[in-house]
Amino acid sequence: MRIKVLDHPLVDHKITVLRDKNTPSPIFRQLVDELVTLLAYEATREIRVEEREVETPITKTVGTYISSPRPLVVPILRAGLGMLEGMTRLIPTAEVGFLGMARNEETLDIVTYAERLPEDLTGRQVYLLDPMLATGGTLIEAIKFLRKRGAEHITCVCILGAPEGIEALKAGVEGLENVDLFLAAQDERLNEKSYIVPGLGDAGDRLYGVAE
Ligand code: URA
Repeated sequence: MRIKVLDHPLVDHKITVLRDKNTPSPIFRQLVDELVTLLAYEATREIRVEEREVETPITKTVGTYISSPRPLVVPILRAGLGMLEGMTRLIPTAEVGFLGMARNEETLDIVTYAERLPEDLTGRQVYLLDPMLATGGTLIEAIKFLRKRGAEHITCVCILGAPEGIEALKAGVEGLENVDLFLAAQDERLNEKSYIVPGLGDAGDRLYGVAE
């Protein structure tokens, strides 16, 4: 598994404002969007392309196009939705699918409560969006789900990651050579409630507020 943590003062600044508990939702959403666009630039370095002829006003030449089948961007609901715009801004021709996953509070299992994805993902390059890599449970289940449909290469794009989550991914996912992880920052640890420390709190609540 290739792991890349962004190293840039602008990224650090934006993350610091995200961490601030007094940052209101509209600013939080905007910063997540900006950070994901910066992450997307790195995460798409290995996007599959093909060479084809293009005719400029001056001459014909050979250019680079994103190849078919188009990459698939999959936000994990709910918090991953806040990352979708930032990702598709850089790859507007990507197809978009959705995965809703949540922890069953009694069994602690991760359950898929919604999905809108092509049945056949054979050979597809998938970008999986989830802002917080905490225990890794959701990402591991999402990767297994996509693999069952045939997805070949999966790039996980997260804002913050905890060391525990990274280790869980390494232990819980097969075929790691076809999985990449891009983070805006790696944090210290998880607390007893599985929140990332120092973290930024509950990403879904901070993006969208708490629906009563
Ligand atoms: N999910 C969140 O939203 N925040 C955390 O700190 C951990 C998981």
